[in-house]
Amino acid sequence: MVQGTLEWGWRYAMVDPSAYRIDYAINPHMDPAVQPDPARARDQWETLRGTLVGLGATVEVIPALPDAPDMVYAMNLGLVALRPEWTGPGRRSVLLSHMRYPQRRIETPAARAWFEGQGFAPSYVGRDGIGAHFEAGDAFPFRGDLVVGHGPRTDELALKHLADDLGVQVRGLRIVHPGMYHLDLAFCPLDDDHALVCPSAFDDESATALLDLVPQPVILSEEEALGSWCANSVVVGRTVVMPDCPRRVRNWLDALGFDVVLVEVSEFHLGGGSIRCLTNPLDLTVGRDLDVLSGGLVVAPGTAAA
Ligand code: ARG
Repeated sequence: MVQGTLEWGWRYAMVDPSAYRIDYAINPHMDPAVQPDPARARDQWETLRGTLVGLGATVEVIPALPDAPDMVYAMNLGLVALRPEWTGPGRRSVLLSHMRYPQRRIETPAARAWFEGQGFAPSYVGRDGIGAHFEAGDAFPFRGDLVVGHGPRTDELALKHLADDLGVQVRGLRIVHPGMYHLDLAFCPLDDDHALVCPSAFDDESATALLDLVPQPVILSEEEALGSWCANSVVVGRTVVMPDCPRRVRNWLDALGFDVVLVEVSEFHLGGGSIRCLTNPLDLTVGRDLDVLSGGLVVAPGTAAA
């Protein structure tokens, strides 16, 4: 069995919070009548950045677009895929999001320019409103596969493109909870064996498949996930940076040897996102070849044309 810390989680991009506001409602948490306090939002964002840097992570800052109030949720800009064993342009690539809602599609050209400037080769599963939707908050590598939530934001059709484009096996999970509309609100890999999992975000089959995939899940109730946003945390080595941590979850993390650091990002909960949503990991590797196949919808590479 694989042990140890995640291979990723040491390099992040964050988008400057200067344009963050609630201009529209595209998830049940948003209400344009309830606006964030800009000074508090800036403070919380700076504290998060400082905390990550203090833990030894690198944080790159992407400038805000004035007309993109949700771009601060950097996780959704695209999915980085590093393939250290490859040569050529796909070695550092980013699969850009094709946002479900038109209000956010303005972010993608800016994300593309930024990632290209950093030496990432961009690709798409769909763009400009045409083709499959994919939002990167729906995808995480775990035990050599790519786990992808679909339903509210990402189309099931995108899974085939992801498998083909990245050359990985994709495990699709159907998200059915409107409040946990991205995978990163219900699933957080902690290391190769452990992850926070909120089964009530998924349909029964997908919940079972995810619990089968994670050797030792820390299971969250719906109330824990929605009340604390604790699945929307980031992991730097053995430290979990969390917006809040229910006592029961804290006891589990203590027992597993994780340190917990709390950072308040309440202003960003008004837009429907927390710590994971505010950060985009730039050091994700994909396609490790591990023999861990079981359960769920599995899409192998090379099936997009089928
Ligand atoms: N208001 C944003 C949206 O609805 C929040 C995105 C949260 N991001 C995330 N990775 N879950 O798209």
